[in-house]
Amino acid sequence: MAIKVKIRKQRVADAKRFYEILNNPNFKYFHICPKDVEAEKDFLRQNTKKRKNNIEYNYAILFNGKLVGGCGIKINQHRTFIGEIGYFLDEKYWGKGITTKAVKILEKIGFEELDLKRIEIIMDPRNIASEKVAIKCAYKKEGTMKKAIKDGDKFSNAYLYAKVKEVS
Ligand SMILES: CC(C)(COP(=O)(O)OP(=O)(O)OC[C@H]1O[C@@H](n2cnc3c(N)ncnc32)[C@H](O)[C@@H]1OP(=O)(O)O)[C@@H](O)C(=O)NCCC(=O)NCCS
Repeated sequence: MAIKVKIRKQRVADAKRFYEILNNPNFKYFHICPKDVEAEKDFLRQNTKKRKNNIEYNYAILFNGKLVGGCGIKINQHRTFIGEIGYFLDEKYWGKGITTKAVKILEKIGFEELDLKRIEIIMDPRNIASEKVAIKCAYKKEGTMKKAIKDGDKFSNAYLYAKVKEVS
């Protein structure tokens, strides 16, 4: 049976749910956790301005109508034809192909609506689930970026996956 995945713009009213999802010690290689629901609301309030300024386009991932995760495209501010996709999902829903589906929808927005020429996905080399999402969405591994992830005062390597817009 086909899984029902949709994405829609994030709303301030999603704050509590996003906080619940992100406040998970099993997000080992993803270190974005708001301090509390208020901090998450502040983040969500900035989304409109970020869109207007072509900085970041963030979405909620819905599975059978329920909010189960988030995804987004960050625009490279020096090369605005390049975007970077990021994602996270409620652990209860892992392994069902939901993020893969969401990335496919998001990629379409990136190439068709935002007119990006190149989309990147960057992950910690130990983040197998994230790497598999990139592979299942047909992104190509371009290499390892040295010291590309900053966590506190530590810097570590990252895999770079990318896809370019096919021109007919
Ligand atoms: C990364 C993440 C969003 C993936 O979400 P998801 O909806 O479970 O992803 P999918 O189901 O579409 O695909 C994940 C694949 O990885 C596989 N996988 C997960 N953990 C694995 C492991 N340890 N070893 C091998 N395969 C693994 C799954 O089986 C699945 O592959 P399959 O469809 O071939 O079975 C989710 O794990 C998550 O939220 N992690 C925490 C946040 C995070 O790390 N975000 C990415 C930052 S770069």
